[in-house]
Parts: sequence; C-alpha cells; structure tokens
Amino acid sequence: MKTNNVQYHKQLSNAFFDKNGKSSALPTIIKTIEEQLKIKKTINFLDIGCNRGTLYSILKIIIYENKWEDRINFYGIDYDKKSIELCSKRHNDVIFYNINLNKINIKIKDHFDIITSINTLHEVFSGYILKQSGKNDLSFKNAKTHTEAVLTELIKLLNKNSSFIIYDGLDVETFQYENIVRFSFVNAKDKDLFNIFVKEYEPIPINVKEINLNLFETSKSNLLRLISTFKYINTDIWDIERKQTYHFFSITDFKNTAYNNNLKIETIKSFSNDIELWKSKFILEDSDWPEKSVLIKYNN
Ligand SMILES: C[S@@+](CC[C@H](N)C(=O)[O-])C[C@H]1O[C@@H](n2cnc3c(N)ncnc32)[C@H](O)[C@@H]1O
Repeated sequence: MKTNNVQYHKQLSNAFFDKNGKSSALPTIIKTIEEQLKIKKTINFLDIGCNRGTLYSILKIIIYENKWEDRINFYGIDYDKKSIELCSKRHNDVIFYNINLNKINIKIKDHFDIITSINTLHEVFSGYILKQSGKNDLSFKNAKTHTEAVLTELIKLLNKNSSFIIYDGLDVETFQYENIVRFSFVNAKDKDLFNIFVKEYEPIPINVKEINLNLFETSKSNLLRLISTFKYINTDIWDIERKQTYHFFSITDFKNTAYNNNLKIETIKSFSNDIELWKSKFILEDSDWPEKSVLIKYNN
C-alpha cells in the first residue's frame, strides 16, 4: 500500500523484532545466504516490496560479521517512490526497481540467487481487488489468478540453483471456505466495533448471522479475516488495513505454484501466531483457531 502514514511504517519495521511475526523468516533467509555462498562466489539478493529497507539493515549486521560484504549484491522492488527514496538514503549500495507488480510485465534484466517477498503479495492481491469492483467472489477469484501470474513472472527472475522465500498471510483451503463457525465476544461491547468492521472492511463482504445477543455464525474464511484485522480498528492505521486482506493463497495454492513452475518446496510452515490476542477478544465454539501466516521456501 502506498502510504506516508508514519505509524504504518513504524509498525512494519517493529514487526521484524516481534517473535510472533515475520521475524520467523529471518533464520531461513540467513541460512539460504550461507548455502548460496557455499556454491557461488557472489550472489544477487532481491527483496520484493523492500519498503524502507529494514530487511537489508538487519541482514547487513550478519553480512558484516561474516565478512560477506563483497559477495552480495542487493536489489529491491517497490512501487512506492517515497519508500525507495528513503531506502536509498539508508542503503546507497542497493539497486532499486520502481515497479508496480500489478502491471505484471516485469522488465528486469538481472537474475537473482535469492528472492524474498515478506508480506508483499497480499498487498498485490488486495490492490488488484480494490481496482476491480471489490467486495464480490469474482473479484476475489480474479485477484488470485492475477497474483499467481505475478508470482510466476517473479519466479522467472531466479538463477539456476536458487531460492525464493515467501512470508505472508495464509488463506483457508477452498473446501473449508464455507465451513460454518460460531463465535462470541469476550467483551460484549466489542460488538459496536464489529459493526464498524463489517461496514468498513473493503476486500470482501463479511456476512455474519446473529444467532442471539452475543452469538454469531459466519464462514471459516470470514472469521479468519475478521480476527486477523480486528486489532486495527480504532488505530491510526485502520484506514489502511481495512482495505486489505492478509489472506490470498492456501497451502494448496502455494503447492500448486511450485508444481506449475517446476520448483521444489524445501520449507513450508504455517503459523497461528496471534491466538493469544484472538482469545482475548473472541470465543470460538467447537472449532480450532485458523492458521494465519505461512513461511515457504522454493528451490529451482
Ligand atoms: C506490508 S509492506 C511490507 C514491507 C516489507 N517487506 C516488510 O516486511 O516490512 C508491502 C510493501 O510492498 C509494496 N507493494 C505493495 N504492492 C505493490 C505493488 N503492486 N508493486 C510493488 N510494490 C508493492 C509496498 O509499497 C510496501 O513497501
């Protein structure tokens, strides 16, 4: 999302130091750099949605300690000019592509030994939905096909014997999409916020049936969107987060991407890393908490 919201960018950087989030991708990224440097003299590292360069800042500490400075060339893609401007102030050694991935035709001559995409593809997906009419099943389906096409273009940028690492949201499997779940609020007052949520959340309609005063019924996929994004209501970044869904591919979709592009999956881990927070707000009836995020490493 293109934004100058200060809180939003603070949150993006801070989240790298939160044990419950994208920091869980760091060991895999560092291990992959080590592996690549064992078999190649120098490597090209591309971060998709590099934003203001927090990932480089973290990796550069490891790179300095290991004396790898001359062996890694950093590249970044982002469509947000302001982010690239700030990132290049911090990192004058990074080569940037100011590209909007939604235009698909990615004109990049370089190839890469490691490509990372940390919490970026769900924004590509959400951006595409909002550009369409939004809030219907067809726009959701189209956005999925579109995101697959973007990912396929990016995979073509891999050198031989290289790795593509994704950390992002995880969607419910298609066959469980409409499974009915019942929930209530820990604090009945949150019902007011919930009404705002249903009204203002843009990517897809959140259809909820009220069974009684504090008991609701919805689909598993709607529940996942509700509980993942509910924490942002009444915060400075609600206006950004209400336009996005964090969930775009299921485990099966990520596996199909490997199959369709001749990649092997080395790592695939899914996480339910916000359960404690969810439990403080919602009570689920006869159902497990859904998984919210995925870390996947493809090799070619
Ligand atoms: C949620 S932020 C994540 C940033 C960073 N990877 C991190 O984990 O902190 C998503 C990033 O992707 C960029 N982005 C979103 N949609 C994009 C698109 N269609 N083309 C290029 N960049 C995009 C945004 O500008 C933003 O910097």
